[in-house]
Amino acid sequence: MTGTRASGANPLIEFKAVHKSFFVRGQQFDVVRALDLAVAPGEFLCIVGPSGSGKSTLLNMVAGLGPPSTGAVSYGGRPVSEVNTEVAYLTQHDTLLPWRTVADNVGVPLELRGMAAATRRPLVQAAIDAIGLAGFEGHYPRQLSGGMRKRAMLARTLIQDPQAILMDEPFGPLDAQLKLMLQAELMALWARSRKTIMFVTHDIVEAITLADRVVVLSARPARVNLIETIAIPRPRDVHRTRFAPEFETHYERIWAAMELGALAQVPA
Ligand SMILES: Nc1ncnc2c1ncn2[C@@H]1O[C@H](COP(=O)(O)OP(=O)(O)O)[C@@H](O)[C@H]1O
Ligand SMILES: [Mg+2]
Repeated sequence: MTGTRASGANPLIEFKAVHKSFFVRGQQFDVVRALDLAVAPGEFLCIVGPSGSGKSTLLNMVAGLGPPSTGAVSYGGRPVSEVNTEVAYLTQHDTLLPWRTVADNVGVPLELRGMAAATRRPLVQAAIDAIGLAGFEGHYPRQLSGGMRKRAMLARTLIQDPQAILMDEPFGPLDAQLKLMLQAELMALWARSRKTIMFVTHDIVEAITLADRVVVLSARPARVNLIETIAIPRPRDVHRTRFAPEFETHYERIWAAMELGALAQVPA
């Protein structure tokens, strides 16, 4: 299975000629320029790009948290014009409520839908079990490690049973081993559920490990420098993808498209 699904006729998420500008103290500040991108249903799409290139801004547009200045972002064939309740959004920030236990945090999306506590309980437990947090239901966020907090946020995201998941550098600050474990769990969840995932990361290895396709953005204002279809067969073993014969070519092409090469040159 490769990224060929993305060439299907009906993308789930589509950016067409998207421009986005912010006005800072009266000055126009272009963040995204003439960006076209289509995400197929069930695709795992990773987005990499330099810091400040507009990656979070793109996810915000899909979530309906900030419309494009010109151009269109559509979801399921319809323009995103208000908060998009079809998608779950795991933002860069720690958004657990400190005064609530793990179970009560994970249950928030169901509570917001008005679901009764007794109905919520087994669903919350299943989400907690699925993400490896069994035994910590009654803990408060301050009693959890960074990785456990990420798991709790992921459980809260999955309990919504969304069609699509937007993930903004979710494993960024975690140590390398924990990152691999969570990547493996996410890939297993995705393989079972076939959600559409837009996953932002600054880690090229992570992007190649997870993605059907990797989109490389330019420095601000963001445009698409490269769309790399990852040819590494699935199922993938997160510990082994970097030794796959295809890996090096993908890495070189993505690295070159990041336009960071000059930074890595050791001066003579
Ligand atoms: N609401 C906003 N108002 C003004 N500038 C913003 C706003 N949101 C983002 N920006 C700016 O747009 C640029 C891209 O931001 P962002 O999408 O967060 O980048 P990335 O996620 O790629 O690091 C940054 O320079 C940021 O400061
Ligand atoms: Mg960001």
